[in-house]
Amino acid sequence: MMIRLSIPLGQVLLLALAFAAATTKRQQQLNVEQLRQLGLGNIINLPNYTDLPRGSYDFIVVGAGAAGCTLAARLSENPNWTVYLIEAGGVENLMHLIPVLAPMLQLTASNWNYKSQPQRHACRGMNNHECALPRGKGLGGTSSINFMIYNRGNRRDFDSWAERGNHGWSYDEVLPYFLRSESAHLQGLEHSPYHNHSGPLSVEDVRFRSSLAHAYVRAAQQAGHSRTDYNGESQLGVSYVQANTLKGRRHSAFSAYIEPVRPLRKNLHILTMARVTRVLIDESTKSAIGVELLHGRRRFEVRARKEVILSAGAFNSPQLLMLSGIGPEDNLRAIGLPVVQALPVGKLLYDHMCHFGPTFVTNTTGQTTFPTRVTLSDILSFYLAGNPATRLSSIGGVEALTFLKSPRSRRPSDWPDLEFIFVAGSLASDEGTALKLGANFKDEIYDTLYRPLQLASQDHFTLLVMQFDPKSVGRLWLHNRNPFTWPKIDPNYFRNEEDVEYLLDGIKEAIRITQMPALQALGTRLLDRPVPGCEHKLFGSDDYWRCSIRTMSYTLHHQVATCRMGPASDPTAVVSPELKVHGMRKLRVVDTSVIPLPPTAHTNAAAFMIGEKAADLIRGDWL
Ligand SMILES: Cc1cc2nc3c(=O)[nH]c(=O)nc-3n(C[C@H](O)[C@H](O)[C@H](O)COP(=O)(O)OP(=O)(O)OC[C@H]3O[C@@H](n4cnc5c(N)ncnc54)[C@H](O)[C@@H]3O)c2cc1C
Ligand SMILES: *[C@@H]1O[C@H](CO)[C@@H](O)[C@H](O)[C@H]1NC(C)=O
Ligand SMILES: *[C@@H]1O[C@H](CO)[C@@H](O)[C@H](O)[C@H]1NC(C)=O
Ligand SMILES: *[C@@H]1O[C@H](CO)[C@@H](O)[C@H](O)[C@H]1NC(C)=O
Ligand SMILES: *[C@@H]1O[C@H](CO)[C@@H](O)[C@H](O)[C@H]1NC(C)=O
Repeated sequence: MMIRLSIPLGQVLLLALAFAAATTKRQQQLNVEQLRQLGLGNIINLPNYTDLPRGSYDFIVVGAGAAGCTLAARLSENPNWTVYLIEAGGVENLMHLIPVLAPMLQLTASNWNYKSQPQRHACRGMNNHECALPRGKGLGGTSSINFMIYNRGNRRDFDSWAERGNHGWSYDEVLPYFLRSESAHLQGLEHSPYHNHSGPLSVEDVRFRSSLAHAYVRAAQQAGHSRTDYNGESQLGVSYVQANTLKGRRHSAFSAYIEPVRPLRKNLHILTMARVTRVLIDESTKSAIGVELLHGRRRFEVRARKEVILSAGAFNSPQLLMLSGIGPEDNLRAIGLPVVQALPVGKLLYDHMCHFGPTFVTNTTGQTTFPTRVTLSDILSFYLAGNPATRLSSIGGVEALTFLKSPRSRRPSDWPDLEFIFVAGSLASDEGTALKLGANFKDEIYDTLYRPLQLASQDHFTLLVMQFDPKSVGRLWLHNRNPFTWPKIDPNYFRNEEDVEYLLDGIKEAIRITQMPALQALGTRLLDRPVPGCEHKLFGSDDYWRCSIRTMSYTLHHQVATCRMGPASDPTAVVSPELKVHGMRKLRVVDTSVIPLPPTAHTNAAAFMIGEKAADLIRGDWL
């Protein structure tokens, strides 16, 4: 049965099914616990996540994202400590649980929906040259809207953190924290020393695989890229993706760390839909004593007996520090904020920029991952029978990753420069409804390049090319004191020309892989419509691709270093290797903003690791 559903209709049907399942059980009574399991918490504002502030707490954690949920769950294991977890957004719903719908979440209230400053050297294919910078809002944070790729990074990443004076953060020292969080269900890796099977966060193979992905993985091997576990001994090579899903459903920081323990922890209080506006500081001792927050129309001040911990993510943790008078003197003075502690907050911002493409077409049909190609039987099978191997479990079409070197690399040979993200689709995968809008692509780009693919029955796939170690550096600052205005974010993508050359190297290698027999057998060829704005370059020439890179610029949202970790002697550091804000007391930052250098990885796994390690650091101080 092949019923084509438009997205809203599909959603409605899924919700109806969920409701039916919830109501038919047990005397037609809507049971709150069942509703939560079905992912409907958002619809009926669940009472358990609206604990209004009561007096003071030992620890206040601001932001229930990947790192914040991990930290709050670990700290509240000690029944003697009270923990208050404050989150700006609401609760996950059914849509978050369905991996194939990942791109659509960027169009919902679960996204902060930031945009970059207009870019001069990148994002020319975006409206007003503004790149979209989505971030998750809600219990689970960005782990509730991301693409669920699980990837830790290279041994050398962490060793170079340690070399910069961040003692305790070398690979051998952080690996136990990655393992502590992980519960792996990965075929063939049951006995790998790099995987744990009893942590809270599920890591799985994606059970739905297209024949395009199989052909790609074979072709990459034919081109000389060996099969690897990119979270194991060596990153270099090709691998099917490892995902943060549990039985084919999204496993966010919230569902992994908070939901299971919530009923057991009287000492863990959680407030959703609450916006922290600043840290309360005793200026005589430079100590954090609590936070100010807005919930509904009410303003509260909540006190922390032991510590305030900011886990508000790479954009909002620096924003909150600055709103509290902790930041660069020039910026704070310019907006009339008294300086409590001068620190280079937001002065550095690294990200991972990609080229969205090349896209290839094949002679096959029926393999491209269109959410609109989800069938009614897929839905029934996923939803009612719990089948983890339907199209609904595809993580937005991402199926395989390849880590590789560029010929111009100046890094050691075991340290990748580039990654290919194999996607069984393109911007056309959702018929122009979500990916295009989420990334802020101009209509002209979609209409010229992708709309024809949406209409064609033939399959296509895209190899996103990503650079790990860009030399272009951005920054973030405030332009007024209003906590409700967005911070200004200028990632400054491709300011450094060499970053473009790395991506060009990657595009050439991606094309070479598609010329291997396994993909040629499917009739694979480059989609050869020129990118609007690049028509004047010879299609396929180096200059054509350089133009395409600066037009089809697409971030994978791995912003780091806005509250950089480093020893007190490091003039670029905001927090110490113990994640304490330099010059302050009782105040830490625990999230991806502390990562000091662009990692050779997507950043979600590191956020969990940082949360786990921070819990140990805090226990070490207070026990
Ligand atoms: C669309 C997208 C796809 C991605 N895909 C992947 C992927 O496939 N794999 C991967 O490894 N990484 C991916 N990433 C990146 C990764 O998910 C993030 O780097 C990581 O989850 C960030 O974790 P965090 O704990 O630092 O912050 P977050 O998870 O962003 O948590 C911050 C939390 O703080 C809350 N908050 C912020 N300000 C306030 C305030 N003032 N008051 C109260 N609460 C506040 C936010 O609402 C949020 O819940 C993706 C990111 C995006 C945006
Ligand atoms: C909690 O406090 C009690 C009484 O002071 C003490 O005996 C116990 O060890 C503490 N538990 C933890 C986990 O610290
Ligand atoms: C696996 O995870 C559990 C739970 O977090 C932890 O207790 C255990 O030490 C971990 N095992 C390894 C090998 O790291
Ligand atoms: C709410 O949490 C308490 C424990 O904190 C638990 O006993 C109760 O069952 C939960 N209620 C719902 C509706 O989940
Ligand atoms: C794919 O289709 C094209 C155009 O119809 C045809 O020329 C080519 O031979 C086909 N290739 C394979 C491998 O089927």
